[in-house]
Amino acid sequence: MKKKVLVSGGAGYIGSHVSVELIAAGYDVVVADNMSNCDMTCFEGVKKITGREDIPFEKIDCCDYASVDRIFSEYKIDAVIHFAAFKAVGESVAEPVKYYRNNLLSFLNILEAASVHGGCNVLFSSSATVYGDAEHLPVTENTPRLPATSPYGNTKQMSEDMLRDVVAATSSYDGKDGRWPVKGIALRYFNPIGAHPSALIGELPRGVPNNLVPFITQTAIGKRECLSIFGNDYPTEDGTCLRDYIDIVDLAKAHVAAVSRMVEGKMAKDYEIFNIGTGRPVSVYELVTAFEKVNGVKLNYKFAPRRPGDVVAIWADTSLANRELGWKAERTVEETLASAWAWERHLAGKL
Ligand code: WQD
Repeated sequence: MKKKVLVSGGAGYIGSHVSVELIAAGYDVVVADNMSNCDMTCFEGVKKITGREDIPFEKIDCCDYASVDRIFSEYKIDAVIHFAAFKAVGESVAEPVKYYRNNLLSFLNILEAASVHGGCNVLFSSSATVYGDAEHLPVTENTPRLPATSPYGNTKQMSEDMLRDVVAATSSYDGKDGRWPVKGIALRYFNPIGAHPSALIGELPRGVPNNLVPFITQTAIGKRECLSIFGNDYPTEDGTCLRDYIDIVDLAKAHVAAVSRMVEGKMAKDYEIFNIGTGRPVSVYELVTAFEKVNGVKLNYKFAPRRPGDVVAIWADTSLANRELGWKAERTVEETLASAWAWERHLAGKL
């Protein structure tokens, strides 16, 4: 019998790539999404890539407990991967209530349903943002989290803690009062970029992109006039910020490894945290020039003032994930940037 994974927020950028890899690895997938920040493009792409027209799709809002409860009742869920959340840092500063309500309530409902329905493991989509401006690099999972600088970042920290506490509290449950133990993994992503090699799924930002790579590809295709590189006076070799850019397919495969670890009972502890990155710092300037070189395009860019809130540098120590999940990022940054460009051209009908 195939194990069944509920992917909340499964029609989005990361969720769609994860759904593809789960299906490729032999899992059944149920996609739930309220479509608040995406359309059906990626879900249709997932069906095409996997050749599976029958993937269940549930248009629900995870903030509504009755809907979440119905999904758990209808499908026998072995694990849930929770992506459904708002993710724009700046917007979260302007609209904290919206962020706290959506990101925390939806996850509370998932945690409640996971315990009530029994035998369900929870994988939470966390972020390197929890480390803030870390003193020592690369960061390990034991690097202390720093106070969040945005409500978005705070919801990631709070959600990790919610998962940790629910796992601890439910560990002694045996189903007698209708509640079962929940086990959990939090994956802390560094900077996910790129697209599926088929160019059928990828990142679909609404409006002006906040993130670097969609801004690069939209500038290259002519949708944006000029990329601003935020800051070239940082204390780094070329003066621009350093990040750990992780390929989206590699990132998706880390989820398959983590889900397998949970459903096959291989966890070392009931609540675990893993950094998901490459372990390689790349500067903004290096990324821009690598994009130009690998894709043979000239990018219109300029140096602009620093963006408030940016940390100078962050990258992952990935040894725990490499060892425990038996997973490693494989794609080169050049391959990833080529896939991002292919996706942008696919969207423009030029591929
Ligand atoms: C990367 C680098 C910018 C745009 C954010 C969130 C984080 C996570 C991923 C989200 C920085 C520079 C960017 C541009 C630029 N999770 N940049 N010009 O800030 O590392 O992380 O996204 O869902 O929580 O904080 O990613 O892609 O925005 O920026 O120069 O137009 O590119 O200053 O150095 P970031 P990013």
